Order: sequence, then structure tokens, then C-alpha cells
Amino acid sequence: MCYYLDMKKETKIKVANLINQIESYFKNDTTGHSVGHLIRTMLIAEKLQKKEGGDLEVVIFSALLHDVHRIMQAEKSKYVSPKESLPQVKKFLKELDLPFEKKKHILYSIEHHEEYSFGKEKVSVTDIESKILQDADNLDAIGAIGLFRCFEYSNSHKIVCYVNQPLYYDDFEEKKFDISMVHHIHNKLCRLKDGMNTETGKKMAISRTKILDKFVNDYIAERKPEFEFWEELK
Ligand SMILES: [Fe+2]
Ligand SMILES: [Fe+2]
Repeated sequence: MCYYLDMKKETKIKVANLINQIESYFKNDTTGHSVGHLIRTMLIAEKLQKKEGGDLEVVIFSALLHDVHRIMQAEKSKYVSPKESLPQVKKFLKELDLPFEKKKHILYSIEHHEEYSFGKEKVSVTDIESKILQDADNLDAIGAIGLFRCFEYSNSHKIVCYVNQPLYYDDFEEKKFDISMVHHIHNKLCRLKDGMNTETGKKMAISRTKILDKFVNDYIAERKPEFEFWEELK
């Protein structure tokens, strides 16, 4: 069932217009932050909103605009925070027929969408709309689609698939987490389920994380003979 079909006609028109507006902006993405990610995040967010409450328009339009910072980042070849992307987000919002308060709320949710419970910046949001955006974004980073997006991201950032090093680190240190794609999956993506804000998100995350866990275990098991071979050669 496609949850998009449950939206009011006027909301659907606004969604279609916004997608039309942002499609070309996101078209050259090679890092797993394409317009497809935005649409999936919106659909997951809509599903969560139905169960958890909150303002539907804030939830879906913040989902569609949350990763403008990723495109700016690719253009500038350096980290761009969600906060720094807000002037560009405002330009997209300008065309959207929404009350000022809702636009303000959308900007707030976008600013805080990348805070993790185990990250340096702990989760600080308390409103349901921002919590839903965080959960929806994190849900698209796990499961079968999350795995594929992680391949895309690693490939575009020349991150190696795996190095034969311990998988887990107690402290969140992005550099250590990212020493390989498999480390990133195990140390960050598999932990996202523990930081879900909503009960619905948590249930979805547990089932999607099983796919990641299986991949990590199978990948390492299949490469084990290769590493043993190198040890023998030493
Ligand atoms: Fe983001
Ligand atoms: Fe995202």
C-alpha cells in the first residue's frame, strides 16, 4: 500500500510541485541522497505520522527538503551542516503555499535531523514532527535499501569495503566508524535502531537491522579464509 495515496488532493499537488522543483537540484547525486531517498523518507514519515500523530504537512515537506545540505556538501567538497543549508531550503519553501509557522517548524526539523542518541550532538528535539523526520531518515539508511545506499556512499567517497580490524568502538568517533564500509554498517547503521524516537519506528528498525546484521556476519565469514591465507604466508 502506498501511503501517498492517502493524502488530500491539495497536499498531493503541493508534493508534486515541490518534487518538480527539487528534482534537478538532486539529479547528479551519487552518494545515496537522491530524490528517491527524499521520496522514501517522506513515505516512511507519512506512515509514522499516521500512527504517532503530529502535523502531516510539516512531516512530509521537511522530509522532502531535509538533505539539501548533502548536495551543497558535494558541490563544496567539504562538510555542510543541515543548519548551513537553511537559506537554500528557504528558497524552495518560498514557492510552497504553507503558513509561516509551518515553514518555521519545517526549518527547525531539518536543522536537527542528523542528531543521534550516540553522536556528539545528542538528540535534543522534543516535538513529534522532528522525531518522526529523524526516524524516517534513519529507517531509509537501514534494511536492503540502506545497504545499497551505503554501497553508493562508500563508492563515491572511496571508502574500502572492509579491513580486518575489530568491529566495535565504545566511543562515537566518526573516523574509526568509517575505516571501512562494513565497520560503518556494524558500528553506526546497526545501532540506529536503539536511538529510534517512536515505537513504530523502533519496530520497523528492528526488522530492517536484521538484514544488515546478516550481511556483516556473512561478509566477514566469507572473507575469513582469505585473511587466514595471508596470515599463513607471513
Ligand atoms: Fe541529512
Ligand atoms: Fe537523509
